[in-house]
Amino acid sequence: MSGVRLRPSTPADLAFITTLERDAENRTIIGQWTDEEHLAAMRGEAGRWHTIIERGGVPAGYMIAYDCRDAGGGVHLKRILVGDKERGTGKAAMRLFVEETFTRLAPDFIWLNVYDHNARAQAVYRALGFRDYHPDEPEASRLTAAAEAPARNAHRMRIDRPG
Ligand SMILES: CC(C)(COP(=O)(O)OP(=O)(O)OC[C@H]1O[C@@H](n2cnc3c(N)ncnc32)[C@H](O)[C@@H]1OP(=O)(O)O)[C@@H](O)C(=O)NCCC(=O)NCCS
Repeated sequence: MSGVRLRPSTPADLAFITTLERDAENRTIIGQWTDEEHLAAMRGEAGRWHTIIERGGVPAGYMIAYDCRDAGGGVHLKRILVGDKERGTGKAAMRLFVEETFTRLAPDFIWLNVYDHNARAQAVYRALGFRDYHPDEPEASRLTAAAEAPARNAHRMRIDRPG
């Protein structure tokens, strides 16, 4: 879909981000971070980066990612959340994120954790080429150390670098 773009988050976006994240609709399905955790990711600490999803020139959601390449863990998408759901925003943002990340950082793969019951998010990821990912040890431990383990009732998904 057109009209969706990504840009780095700034502290001026914090109120938008935390209002969306802490909204009653979202707080039970998405992790909750403190203001300082968001600000640290915006500063790029610990290999993290924070991105605003814009639609029609205004913030529509956000993404947080971890660069885990030094630990052999590719790039981890920690979180994606959009406000107005099921209007094509999330899929367009994910497509841009995957393209930009492979172009800019060339990780071997991008991965994320998703709840087994989150069919909507999984539909978006699968449409873009992600597949279920159940690594054996020690790869699973390496990913957990580099980012985090899937919660109970969740699993990993990944997409490999093209070519
Ligand atoms: C997941 C999320 C980012 C997706 O963004 P979005 O803008 O809502 O998604 P889109 O509109 O781009 O695409 C949704 C797709 O899922 C499909 N879908 C919706 N509900 C579905 C379901 N229960 N089962 C299967 N597919 C479903 C839609 O049909 C659509 O596919 P289509 O484009 O082929 O029609 C967004 O819904 C969100 O913020 N959810 C809450 C937070 C969350 O779950 N984040 C992911 C954590 S891993």
